[in-house]
Amino acid sequence: MGLGNDSSVTVAPVYKQGWTMDDVHWSMFDATKLDPELLATVKAAALVEYNAPDYVSYLKRVFAGAGPETIAAIEQWGREEAQHGRALGRWAEMADPTFKLEEAFARFRKGYTPEHFAGVEETSVRGSRRGEMIARCVVESGTSSYYSAIRDASEEPVLQEIAGRIAADEYRHYKMFYDLQNAQPGPELGLWKKLLIAVGRVRESDDDELAFSYYCANVPPEKELITPYERKKFSKLASKASMAAYRRKHIEKLVQMVVKAVGANPHGWIASFFGALLWRRLAAKGA
Ligand SMILES: [Fe+2]
Ligand SMILES: [Fe+2]
Repeated sequence: MGLGNDSSVTVAPVYKQGWTMDDVHWSMFDATKLDPELLATVKAAALVEYNAPDYVSYLKRVFAGAGPETIAAIEQWGREEAQHGRALGRWAEMADPTFKLEEAFARFRKGYTPEHFAGVEETSVRGSRRGEMIARCVVESGTSSYYSAIRDASEEPVLQEIAGRIAADEYRHYKMFYDLQNAQPGPELGLWKKLLIAVGRVRESDDDELAFSYYCANVPPEKELITPYERKKFSKLASKASMAAYRRKHIEKLVQMVVKAVGANPHGWIASFFGALLWRRLAAKGA
């Protein structure tokens, strides 16, 4: 079952694939329309996106021996993710001239290397290629809804444009990994197994990646001594800043995409139940 015919979970991709930094209308930048919380979360997102080459090496190990089209698709995906980092980073440098993408990224790299990126193993940490693809779909569902939320929340025109372009890319990535999952030979994973992988990946999002990227992006090096990194504190700040942009429709879309990735009905009770639950939890946190 492909996603192509299911318009109900389609984030209308206004922007085509293959855009470059030169396609962005940078001259439209309007410093009077900035929002500090959006700026803080965009800076952190730039670092995570810019880190894509590590993911590419890892995924290429997982898909070693797969056809050349699969490897080419992974490489293209990685180039697009890294460009997301460059575009968000350049915008953040315009919005806050004290922010330097390369400098903040160097600090982030120094302090953050997930175990499975450092290894040389040729198997997925999810147990199988299918499992790996489900985890990727969860991430792409998250980024697709996140950039849609940023696009809708931003009043600054260049951020609106970049977030719109990225949201469309992320949706295409989701579809690419979704199709790749279904193209894998061998038996399909059971629904519970798939749900466990999806939930496991969602829980991993609480790890250092988001907290530490937020820290490196928003605490300048000269303030490191008086504001040391504390995972819990910066994890909270990072999710507060990102969740401020979300509206209920973004959460519902996110849940539908994840539910579809595990093979359940995106318009069935599982999606409605988790959509409502997640939204209530976020609303209760004051998001
Ligand atoms: Fe991305
Ligand atoms: Fe992506």
